[in-house]
Amino acid sequence: MNSARKPLIAGNWKMHLGGIAGIELAAKCMDIARQNPHVELVVAPPFTAIAAIAQECEEQGEHGGHCGVAAQNMNAKSAGAYTGEVSPAMLAEAGATWVILGHSERRQHYGETDQQVHEKVAAAFVAKLVPIVCIGETLEERESGQTLTVVKRQLSAFVELLQEHVALPSAIAYEPVWAIGTGKTAGPAEAEEVHAAIREVLSAQSAELAAKTRILYGGSVKADNAKALLAAANVDGALVGGASLEAASFGAIARAAESLVVSS
Ligand code: PGA
Repeated sequence: MNSARKPLIAGNWKMHLGGIAGIELAAKCMDIARQNPHVELVVAPPFTAIAAIAQECEEQGEHGGHCGVAAQNMNAKSAGAYTGEVSPAMLAEAGATWVILGHSERRQHYGETDQQVHEKVAAAFVAKLVPIVCIGETLEERESGQTLTVVKRQLSAFVELLQEHVALPSAIAYEPVWAIGTGKTAGPAEAEEVHAAIREVLSAQSAELAAKTRILYGGSVKADNAKALLAAANVDGALVGGASLEAASFGAIARAAESLVVSS
């Protein structure tokens, strides 16, 4: 972590917690936000829960604290005959201010391409949604020494857009596919190697982009490994799946980030 960037802890709920359980967890996330004021907190519920969760977070915000609401995906188009799809403006209307894009589960299961990620990132900026753009290699790619090549290719699809909109916030999540939901994590040194390479690509665009952009680590981040990962120089936060579904584990990850800021 670097004291110039506020750590960002984002919970990706995936296809879980659509109903009242999601609202209850959001209320607890607001407690976590109040308890960890040096950390920026975001939750990404399923589409159908965004409006209710955004409202809950707003109401609770009257007692202090802030928790942003993200969508997990969106269509890049603004409207039209696209059955089953959700536009950027619809997400903003529902109360989302963030959007996760290019998650490896979208790339793997729904064939999302670098080109589509490019279009979605551009559309997110137009709709004033803060993109958290995910990149990361598969196990096969890592084992064949392709990690940095793959990550840089995925990054090249949207890095110029980040530079064009350098005045607006954005984040990148490095999520090695082999670490997602598997209980395996990249060690802090492994993560840092890739995060530093990502930072270099940002630097080649501009010093401002490199200084501002938060690079999150994702892939089996848990209460017991968060602090070591977040302590790495170029790790500015975490995108948390499984451990974001319980307030206890999500709160512990936020506390790990908070303690690193406070002790720095
Ligand atoms: P995980 O998921 O923490 O359950 O590995 C992370 C993600 O997919 O964003």
